[in-house]
Amino acid sequence: MMREWNLDGAAMTDNASSVPMFELRDAGKRYAGQMALAPMDLRIERGRTTALIGSSGSGKSTVLKLLMGLIWPDRGQVCMEGSPLTRRALTAQRRRIGYVIQEGGLFPHLTIAQNLSLQARSVGWAATRIQARVTSLLDLVRLQADVLRRYPAELSGGQRQRVALARALMLDPPALLLDEPLGALDPVVRHDLQDELARIFAELKTTVVLVTHDMAEAAFLASRLVLLEGGRVRQDGSFADLRDRPADAFVSRFVASGRGLPQADA
Ligand SMILES: Nc1ncnc2c1ncn2[C@@H]1O[C@H](COP(=O)(O)OP(=O)(O)OP(=O)(O)O)[C@@H](O)[C@H]1O
Ligand SMILES: [Mg+2]
Repeated sequence: MMREWNLDGAAMTDNASSVPMFELRDAGKRYAGQMALAPMDLRIERGRTTALIGSSGSGKSTVLKLLMGLIWPDRGQVCMEGSPLTRRALTAQRRRIGYVIQEGGLFPHLTIAQNLSLQARSVGWAATRIQARVTSLLDLVRLQADVLRRYPAELSGGQRQRVALARALMLDPPALLLDEPLGALDPVVRHDLQDELARIFAELKTTVVLVTHDMAEAAFLASRLVLLEGGRVRQDGSFADLRDRPADAFVSRFVASGRGLPQADA
């Protein structure tokens, strides 16, 4: 299948004046005195896919965890749809975010059906509504209904990733945070699922923040690439910006590497 690359990011550029889906305002994070993320301003616009790329330890997951309210910044603020994340509002705010953690995060002791329906049940959806939603999501991520009875360990890695994505979409959230959703997959499955993700993102028109090590994956799926290194943004733009107008030699090397830099400690 021929790929349509979205190299210059023009097609999905959002109205810059509208309220962003997420915003870091001078938000930074240290762990035990060590800087994981330098204080930064970062706006995530609605309705487009933004990729956070960078080598291992560059701060990508830290950004997602801040946006999800799993960790709090030591300074500054994290906003969602114009309002700061607060501990009081967090449960409601999180319902508007689908999140797939780096390891997929399915509950191993629950069947796929139970994994998918857990959150909907907890917010009081009726069984018929849950069933209808599950059916349409299985269709979206192209899984057969017979997976529902199985446990995560009884699925292939690619099938588990599809379930994790379906689970994140269950409540039809306006925002989707995906941390290396295809990280552990073999290249062929990964390539196929990249095509599927591109189709799903286009179909849903959701705001997506996608973390990946893989430059080619970022360029394929996202109209905006934010390249992090050492907890700082090295460059922020379309793939064509990074390729044709790299901010420095680091960016050039990263773009040239195609699959990200060798990792120091992976
Ligand atoms: N809970 C924690 N306690 C201490 N240090 C942490 C913690 N979580 C992350 N760090 C450190 O913060 C930095 C950024 O980590 P982060 O998980 O954001 O990296 P990443 O870009 O997602 O890397 P990877 O590609 O390996 O997942 C790293 O130096 C990491 O060791
Ligand atoms: Mg990470």
